[in-house]
Amino acid sequence: MPVKTIRFGIIGCGLMGREFASAAARWCHLTEFSVRPEIVAIGDANPSLFPWYRDHFPSIRQATADYRELLGNAEVEVVYCALPHHLHREVYCAAIEAGKHLMGEKPFGIDQPANAAILACAAQHPEIFVRCSSEYPFYPAVQRIGAMIEAGAFGRVIEAGAGFLHSSDLDPQKPLNWKRLVAFNGQYGCLGDLGMHVCHVPFRAGWFPRNVRAICSKIVSQRPDGKGGLAPCETWDNATLFCETTDPGSGQNFPLTLKTQRIAPGEKDTWCLEVLGTRAAARFSTKNPRRLELLEYSGGEQVWGQIDMGYESAFKTITGGIFEFGFPDAILQMWAAFLHELEHGRPPRRFAGCVTPEETALSHALFTAALQSQAAAAVVALPDHNSRT
Ligand SMILES: NC(=O)c1ccc[n+]([C@@H]2O[C@H](COP(=O)([O-])OP(=O)(O)OC[C@H]3O[C@@H](n4cnc5c(N)ncnc54)[C@H](O)[C@@H]3O)[C@@H](O)[C@H]2O)c1
Repeated sequence: MPVKTIRFGIIGCGLMGREFASAAARWCHLTEFSVRPEIVAIGDANPSLFPWYRDHFPSIRQATADYRELLGNAEVEVVYCALPHHLHREVYCAAIEAGKHLMGEKPFGIDQPANAAILACAAQHPEIFVRCSSEYPFYPAVQRIGAMIEAGAFGRVIEAGAGFLHSSDLDPQKPLNWKRLVAFNGQYGCLGDLGMHVCHVPFRAGWFPRNVRAICSKIVSQRPDGKGGLAPCETWDNATLFCETTDPGSGQNFPLTLKTQRIAPGEKDTWCLEVLGTRAAARFSTKNPRRLELLEYSGGEQVWGQIDMGYESAFKTITGGIFEFGFPDAILQMWAAFLHELEHGRPPRRFAGCVTPEETALSHALFTAALQSQAAAAVVALPDHNSRT
């Protein structure tokens, strides 16, 4: 099969920029794929990051500290932006206006006005393909849960929950970085960092919160500033959102609990999802990445079963179905979904697609309401989904 090359530029060459580059480097892992990414340009304010890219990607012909130069490069067709949140609005809009397809990182704008500006820009350029990164739904067990949601297999949804729990900030001696400062990370704090990850599946399922009661916590109040002193941590460490949500299948409301925690003792980096319905229930956690817990109920005994999912991925790969699936695989699958949709105009299945700009707007409506709820210690109503899209 002839393979078409799509030329990429990366703006923001830190942690996530390298994850994308690594996925592009093992694109041959995917089979039956008619397009492949080629990284031709990189941009970052910190040029000390460039040698790693240059060493591994001879296709790179431009490295610049000024992202505008990269956007002016006619060779670049698609841009991946992995920048601190305060830069999302400016750089995402500039990329769209420069005629580049865009994969942006979450939260897709530091706050709701920034997100609205990015969406307005995308709306003025409908020919540009715009998506937001979120990789966890590409774990095989989550793909299976998505297929069950699509098929209505849960019956009436009784309750659902999603969480992203890690303990990378449990150590109070970990130095401060941009993610603890409002100017760079935004008022959302952990919600901006982790929130889109827990909203992706519920939103794709059509489970849009009608209202929210949020409880947010700041747990470590100051950290080493890297210069021998201490600096205040300004952003929320943990947030739990209790939402009332409508099940589009039954039209009935149910509780949806979304947890985003940077200080979750015992959790290294756990993404989890639980759906409880009248006909079936399912649980998944990246703690046991191959295990899907499933209960199917048609009367009689209720028996939880465990399925070893192995490598049942959304996009076919060379890896045998019995083997384990992990974080870099989820990243590769997400990028396969991005390029598939860019090329074919739609995802192969509802849950095998990247987050849309509209879904990011829903997340901003939720996180903004969550901050209001936290401030007022009250339940805050969200606008009706239909009036927001
Ligand atoms: N999808 C995920 O799983 C995931 C995981 C972590 C972070 N993220 C998101 O990715 C984005 C980046 O996070 P990260 O962890 O990669 O951060 P990072 O700090 O590792 O990388 C950010 C890069 O941006 C560069 N930068 C800063 N200002 C710049 C400017 N004006 N011009 C050009 N470059 C500039 C920095 O030098 C740095 O290399 C954020 O939006 C974050 O929320 C996503």
